[in-house]
Amino acid sequence: MNITQYLTEEHRKCDSVYAEVEKAVSEENWEKAEELFKEFKEKTLLHFKKEEDVLFPEFEEKTGIVMGPTQVMRMEHNQARELLERMEEALKNKNKDEFLSLGESLMILIQQHNMKEEQILYPMSDQNLNPEEMVEKMSELGEV
Ligand SMILES: [Fe+2]
Ligand SMILES: [Fe+2]
Repeated sequence: MNITQYLTEEHRKCDSVYAEVEKAVSEENWEKAEELFKEFKEKTLLHFKKEEDVLFPEFEEKTGIVMGPTQVMRMEHNQARELLERMEEALKNKNKDEFLSLGESLMILIQQHNMKEEQILYPMSDQNLNPEEMVEKMSELGEV
């Protein structure tokens, strides 16, 4: 398995959990929504951690590109983290409209972010890094 396959699969898993979160919130099934949101947040943050702690530093070292795509990706992760915090707050307040509107912003951000990773950053990583070693190191951090 290469880096592109491994991390793209994680994007799909996070997307599918979010679809369930959205459904539970729409139905005002708050208990289920809270449980699913927790899972979504954990998976998303673990995925970010794998990229930030393992993939990006290695990408920067091997390609010498330090002020490029990895910086943009880190910035977008921070924007996503902030939205996740605000969504958690909205969920706590059972504020359905606020939650769904923040969720829509997050999904737009994440879809554009993931597309850039899947089409540019991951393929470049597979070409310039050792895919097997990277997948192994990222797997050691846990399963999304
Ligand atoms: Fe990312
Ligand atoms: Fe990613």
